[in-house]
Amino acid sequence: MRTWQEFCAGNRSTQSKTFYVFYSSRDLGSSDGPPRNWKGIGIAMVVIVAVMSLVILSVILLTPDESHLLLRSHLTMEDLESDEFKVHDPCVAWLNDNEVALRTREGHVLSFSLNTNLTTTLLDNSSLDLTATKFQVSADKRFVLVAYNIRPVFTQSFTASYAIYNVANGDLLELNPLEREKATLQYASWGPQGNQLAYVSDGDIYYKPSVTSNPLRLTTTDEEQNVVNGLSDWTYEEEVLLTYVAHWWSMDGARLAYLTINNSATPVMEIPHFLGGLYPSNVLFPYPKAGSSIPSVSLFVVNLYGPAHTLEMMPPDSLRARDSYISMVTWISSTRLAVRWLNRAQNQSVLCVCEATTGACSEKHKMTMDIMQNQRQDVPLFSADGSMFYTILPAKQGARGEFHHIAGLSAQPAIPSVPPRFLTSGSWDSHLALRPRREGWKNLLPEYRGIQTEQTPLQRGPGWSVSAPVHLLQSHRWMRLL
Ligand SMILES: *[C@@H]1O[C@H](CO)[C@@H](O)[C@H](O)[C@H]1NC(C)=O
Ligand SMILES: *[C@@H]1O[C@H](CO)[C@@H](O)[C@H](O)[C@H]1NC(C)=O
Ligand SMILES: *[C@@H]1O[C@H](CO)[C@@H](O)[C@H](O)[C@H]1NC(C)=O
Ligand SMILES: *[C@@H]1O[C@H](CO)[C@@H](O)[C@H](O)[C@H]1NC(C)=O
Repeated sequence: MRTWQEFCAGNRSTQSKTFYVFYSSRDLGSSDGPPRNWKGIGIAMVVIVAVMSLVILSVILLTPDESHLLLRSHLTMEDLESDEFKVHDPCVAWLNDNEVALRTREGHVLSFSLNTNLTTTLLDNSSLDLTATKFQVSADKRFVLVAYNIRPVFTQSFTASYAIYNVANGDLLELNPLEREKATLQYASWGPQGNQLAYVSDGDIYYKPSVTSNPLRLTTTDEEQNVVNGLSDWTYEEEVLLTYVAHWWSMDGARLAYLTINNSATPVMEIPHFLGGLYPSNVLFPYPKAGSSIPSVSLFVVNLYGPAHTLEMMPPDSLRARDSYISMVTWISSTRLAVRWLNRAQNQSVLCVCEATTGACSEKHKMTMDIMQNQRQDVPLFSADGSMFYTILPAKQGARGEFHHIAGLSAQPAIPSVPPRFLTSGSWDSHLALRPRREGWKNLLPEYRGIQTEQTPLQRGPGWSVSAPVHLLQSHRWMRLL
């Protein structure tokens, strides 16, 4: 795929100046040339020699003396092993409004309170060697989920074994869904409340209301069928959602929304993996190409408190009987979700608000998507009561063409639908950015603001359009939205 730089370069050359070629009207048949000006040639040669010697002299004078560098030792393989060259990933994650969990260089997992500057050790480096692991602290800070034996699959996806560390007594419990020894799971993570957790094994989602309770199986799929629940397949991970995780907890932990991705009809790609053996082993995965079947996708919401019951969120009428994608899912409240469906050509998107309790989805905004602009995953910002949402839409700005601006739309069902109300205008693009409130992430409601940046208009050409990235951060205004 061509990058925007190439597009810009290509664009510039198409706009290039017209070259005029002048022809001499002199009689070309004449054989006797003009008399040679030997004096002029001599002066020119002297000037050339003088300029060249000046250049050579300045190069010699201005070249820094690098002899002292030779005295320093060179980089060796041992250096690369040393701590100095190790990248430390603290894996910082928010625990609540004013606490984060992080991993220190020594391998301790701590919680840090931003209000008091106090740290608490959750997991000591002597209890577990955490260097080759991922970890996640439960919402109540009583347990740490540790992923080990991590094997990458695609860009983000991995399989791993999981253990649960009890902060209070130091016990380590294997997360074994089917009482197997050293089970490998596709994914496991805590929910937003207490120590509820969900994991995916063999394409099915399991839920544990707490660490000690028995797992509840939320989905049941045939092993023969190529179906995965709650996680992305290759297509969704690399092209559609751009995340491995394809399940979303409601903020109160009472519901779990998840995608079911069915690849029964998708053709399969075979890729040899060279893992050190004499012969490579082949990895097979569903991989749609132009014109072939794409994975079919459905969005379900399962009730986690009380008897588990599952409802499908129904796609909008215009996409119901057609190939489509789901490129964004987000919870607005404990019972409502915003979902973006895309048509197969990925040039039409429909943003819907779905009622998790009934499965009914109402269309809020239908728009033409530009495949080059990568807006498919953009999460709109919802006001606290869920009645309004803000997103970036193109708006015509007189003769200078279209620019992206912040638009507010009603999330209430409205017939006929109300056109978007633009909050910004001008010949520059607005971006939605989010900045935490100075007093912390109170009520988990960050302050959303729009940044305005000076920019050239969208450049359009046959078959493609591209918005150049920010050239000048000239006007940089903040606007409070929520
Ligand atoms: C554990 O942490 C201590 C300091 O708190 C450090 O001296 C030690 O090297 C660490 N052990 C490992 C295995 O990193
Ligand atoms: C926490 O540490 C920061 C930086 O060292 C300091 O500015 C702040 O005043 C401290 N807060 C408290 C409550 O001690
Ligand atoms: C997956 O799709 C196939 C048809 O392509 C269908 O027969 C099968 O029932 C679907 N499986 C699930 C679990 O939806
Ligand atoms: C979307 O793409 C398809 C196929 O390229 C084309 O036929 C259709 O007109 C496009 N729709 C819009 C709204 O651009």
